[in-house]
Amino acid sequence: MVRLQLSLAIQLLCLAQSLVIGQDTTYNYGFDVSTRVKRQLARRQVVRTGGEIHVRQEIRELEKDQDMWSLYILGLSMLQFTPQSSPTSWYGIAGIHGAPFQTWGGVGPSGSVQYGYCAHSSVLFPTWHRPYMVLYEQVLHNLIQTIATFWPDDERPRFEDAARRFRIPYWDWAASPPTGQSVLPLSVGGSPFIDVDGPNGVQRIANPLFSYAFKPLNASAFSRSPWNFWSHTLRGPTDGGPNAQSNNSQVAQSLDLNRVSISQRLYALFSHNNDYKSFGNSAWRPESGNASYDSLESLHDTVHYLSGGGGASAQGQNGHMSYIPYSAFDPIFFLHHCMVDRIFALWQTLHPETWVTPTPAAWPTYTYRRGQVQDASSELTPFFSHENGTFWTSDGVRDFTRFGYTYAELADDPAGNGRTQARVKQSINRLYGTNSPANLFLGALQPQSIEASRKMANVEIDKGNLFRTALLRKILNGDEYREWTVNVRVDKQALDGPFSIHFFLGEPPLEPEAWTSDPNHVGTMGVFAHHHSPGQGMPGVRRRDDDEVDEGVFVSGAVPLTAALMKKIAEGELASLQPRDVDPYLKKTLDKRVLGPYGRTWGLECARVLRMSIVSSVVRAPYSEDELPQWEGEEVHYEDGDGGDGEGSDGEESDGEEDGGHEWKRLKRDVC
Ligand SMILES: *[C@@H]1O[C@H](CO)[C@@H](O)[C@H](O)[C@H]1NC(C)=O
Ligand SMILES: *[C@@H]1O[C@H](CO)[C@@H](O)[C@H](O)[C@H]1NC(C)=O
Ligand SMILES: *[C@@H]1O[C@H](CO)[C@@H](O)[C@H](O)[C@H]1NC(C)=O
Ligand SMILES: *[C@@H]1O[C@H](CO)[C@@H](O)[C@H](O)[C@H]1NC(C)=O
Repeated sequence: MVRLQLSLAIQLLCLAQSLVIGQDTTYNYGFDVSTRVKRQLARRQVVRTGGEIHVRQEIRELEKDQDMWSLYILGLSMLQFTPQSSPTSWYGIAGIHGAPFQTWGGVGPSGSVQYGYCAHSSVLFPTWHRPYMVLYEQVLHNLIQTIATFWPDDERPRFEDAARRFRIPYWDWAASPPTGQSVLPLSVGGSPFIDVDGPNGVQRIANPLFSYAFKPLNASAFSRSPWNFWSHTLRGPTDGGPNAQSNNSQVAQSLDLNRVSISQRLYALFSHNNDYKSFGNSAWRPESGNASYDSLESLHDTVHYLSGGGGASAQGQNGHMSYIPYSAFDPIFFLHHCMVDRIFALWQTLHPETWVTPTPAAWPTYTYRRGQVQDASSELTPFFSHENGTFWTSDGVRDFTRFGYTYAELADDPAGNGRTQARVKQSINRLYGTNSPANLFLGALQPQSIEASRKMANVEIDKGNLFRTALLRKILNGDEYREWTVNVRVDKQALDGPFSIHFFLGEPPLEPEAWTSDPNHVGTMGVFAHHHSPGQGMPGVRRRDDDEVDEGVFVSGAVPLTAALMKKIAEGELASLQPRDVDPYLKKTLDKRVLGPYGRTWGLECARVLRMSIVSSVVRAPYSEDELPQWEGEEVHYEDGDGGDGEGSDGEESDGEEDGGHEWKRLKRDVC
């Protein structure tokens, strides 16, 4: 089934790819548009509040609204064709995030000039990206209001209405895509051009969701190869040369093959990351304990990494999305970050009590030094809240509805019965819980009252077919089950650029391009990184004298194993999810590989994998879709792949008596 969907998506994408890349054209309105578009004249571009509240939709939903879709495509195209010198052009807005490391709105520098303004591995990660998305939304919204007025009188009111309701869409990379489709929407990766039905008729233009073409590329602003000769953004580039093309079918495939892992991570984040600091950002902090390895940022990193190509092309070259300084130029960036904001908003609704607490930044920005303490009133530079130069703060953006947007799950409850939390949980269960044992449990319950269900659960779980019942008993223990996870802690800047750690239940293929599609592949932890000082250093080799990051920036993440183990149970290879069965099974079969920049595989030591631990938690299943699973304390089974007894050797002197340990030692001996 999954394979079928995949091959269809790949076919469609390949078809699109075989068509000749059109010229970089925008819509011809039949008159000089520049005279009709109001340019932002204010000295400071303010991120405004107020206005009607409308829903930010999933991109596939938005596409169903033909009028709004036309406006969206025309607006994006117009934004991409706005002169790059304008701070509110595509180039200007994308440039806030990373390269070209220029001052925006006259703000800074007061941190490190080799970094953009974006906050990573910082308590400001979720909140900084919020006004960033709103700035983009408001600039796009303005253009769209103007475009709507270009339709003839009889159609104009319809388009003006759609324009008023327009809010930026998000891209749900964790939910199961519609049958026959890839996680990567065809509108985004299917074709370099698009037929748009605008006020001057249907025209074929460059697809503004496929790529952004620099107008022109300023090679000195992107001093490292190949960024200094790639004239447009690329995903899964075919090579690192000047004629590289995007391979969106490769990106679609990696995303599809990692989706189960990604949705399990998201479901777990919603179910058991209850504290803002550990939920929000990837920085690893010793005081946070064992339950805080995964985070919204770490999951977001993996999607960045895979969207850029995931190192899976023949030369292992990644596209713009995989690199922090270039990612925001790719149009998929804003779809991805709108999803990140949505996750944050849903999570906030479930956890209204926890918020930003003072924490030193683990990563520098254009305006913050590494180590500087950030709190709820730190300025989210360069996003102005007032013309007088005041900036937004985390406290200021906590209530996002003040910016005129919301998400479907949070839109006003018509009955006003205060069941928003229940609706959010229902949506989380339906969209992201499908690969969890919790879903099996829910599916086995009859639609009865919660109390009746509770009584029933311990006695009889399923009246369905025998195989299913037997399978359920191996996975569920009454209303409980075990979640298995690999926790990883690593240095974000260990290699000169983004890299990934892949996990397998069994021996992986030799060639990295074959890893993700291997039947034993469990999941990928993608590390979204900077490369070191622009223009310096050998590609792929860490520069020891990079003072900003030399001490290491330790980030953590997690790769869930439960769905893969359930598959092995169904296949008869594993008896249950209990430690007596899983512990020896993982010691025997769990394997891992590191893929660095430029397709190079690395020893785990080089990737500064300081700790990898196999943990499990007993989880109590929900009795209705209005509840989420409840995680109990975490149990560490073994660490660092030492195959030992869980004492947590640091891995340097691993005894390697188990197969897993043997593999670990071999990797560690690799020369960096
Ligand atoms: C190109 O980039 C360089 C280096 O960032 C900058 O100094 C220069 O002003 C840019 N040129 C243009 C035309 O923007
Ligand atoms: C694009 O990726 C697909 C799937 O990984 C692969 O089969 C195909 O050969 C790639 N195309 C090019 C032109 O590299
Ligand atoms: C984390 O796990 C280790 C190994 O089991 C344990 O020694 C330590 O106390 C745990 N830390 C916290 C904060 O729970
Ligand atoms: C800027 O204006 C806002 C709103 O009028 C006000 O609250 C704030 O104190 C002003 N800040 C400065 C620095 O003048």
